[in-house]
Amino acid sequence: MRVNGEPQELLVLPHRTLLEVLREDLGLTGTKHGCELGECGACTVLIDGKPQLSCLTLPAQVIGREVTTIEGVADGGALHALQESFGALNAAQCGYCTPGMIVTAAALLDREPDPSLDQIRHALGGNMCRCTGYLKILEAVQLAAAQRVTAP
Ligand code: FES
Ligand code: FES
Repeated sequence: MRVNGEPQELLVLPHRTLLEVLREDLGLTGTKHGCELGECGACTVLIDGKPQLSCLTLPAQVIGREVTTIEGVADGGALHALQESFGALNAAQCGYCTPGMIVTAAALLDREPDPSLDQIRHALGGNMCRCTGYLKILEAVQLAAAQRVTAP
């Protein structure tokens, strides 16, 4: 597979999850280990640009595919607009949900650059946050969208 643009050739036991392989074998600990049951969204990564739960994905399912984690959403040295807006609006408190929120929202903005509030709510519907009450997160996605739409 490719991870954040880099080819990775790994030999792993087939029952391990993509979440475990990313965190333990590749050291990409930005992807968070939450419920392991497909319910919290903390482990979300992009597979071929689409949000997927890495705790429910086996390595064999990503052979030859492109995986993007929170470590890969920045553009070189420049933060992604969502990373900027989450910071600017204090949309992260403990931060445990934040990587999953940002990669999920990044996929939304790639397919829908100017989403409605309902579209943002729907896209993030599988990502739980125990801290923020969600309002700041929704505002941060709106801010990132607005900044990208108006960017030169
Ligand atoms: S850790 Fe994967 S959905 Fe919770
Ligand atoms: S900021 Fe703590 S879980 Fe969302």
